[in-house]
Amino acid sequence: MDTPQVKIYPTPSAMSLAAAELFSELINDASKKQHSAQVALSGGSTPVALFQLLAQPPYNASIPWDRVHFYWADERCVPPEDAESNYGQAWQNLLSKVSVSQQNIHRVLGELEPKAAAQDYVLQLKQNGTGALAWPVLDCVLLGMGADGHTASLFPGQVNSTESISPAIPVTADYGGRPANRVTLTPLVFNSARHVLFLVTGENKANALSEVLHGAGDPLHFPAQRIRPVNGDVTWLIDQAAGSLLHK
Ligand code: 6PG
Repeated sequence: MDTPQVKIYPTPSAMSLAAAELFSELINDASKKQHSAQVALSGGSTPVALFQLLAQPPYNASIPWDRVHFYWADERCVPPEDAESNYGQAWQNLLSKVSVSQQNIHRVLGELEPKAAAQDYVLQLKQNGTGALAWPVLDCVLLGMGADGHTASLFPGQVNSTESISPAIPVTADYGGRPANRVTLTPLVFNSARHVLFLVTGENKANALSEVLHGAGDPLHFPAQRIRPVNGDVTWLIDQAAGSLLHK
């Protein structure tokens, strides 16, 4: 992995516009080279504006949506129609509005218990594995970061013993009153991706962001530091408030 690129924008909307441009470039490049593109989406409030932009011109027409396979970096264990569902949020704001192919939507079955949902997701990942890998090599992973440095559902102080052998695991973690039972992709999958795109906004994340980007390596306490694709790139798109403590 090269040094991550860090780009700071004056406002969350400017950051979302830049994210839409980069997302579109990555998907167009991948689908030209491979005839399809593999994407993992995240939940949380940050990507909603990006989803809404992608559902509008020019991106609703300029991205070959029917060639994109969708996975989720993590999911909360709630039914898909629940307001807390990461799949549900992506469906409402983006996927229902563009010409995706239903069979390319590989969602975590959040309506199941975490263990069963993770088992099913592991099977789906395996069915779509790249080469000898039991998971697809993702062309673009969208990740957020919590004020505690978590990303996807990799939380501080938690390392599950199966995560070094399994592409997806069940997780229980309390954060911001959101559903505690979750399923997450593991660093095995994130670190074999071609491009990881972190979106981070808000002053409440400034401290964690400066620890993650400039602090001593402490991936156990700042799980976003666990994302280091071996042959891929990482780009951080952040707003000024989140970047306020970064070295100039
Ligand atoms: C989730 C996530 C999670 C999220 C961060 C940031 O399902 O909760 O995927 O990792 O990206 O918690 O959330 P916000 O964007 O709401 O700050």
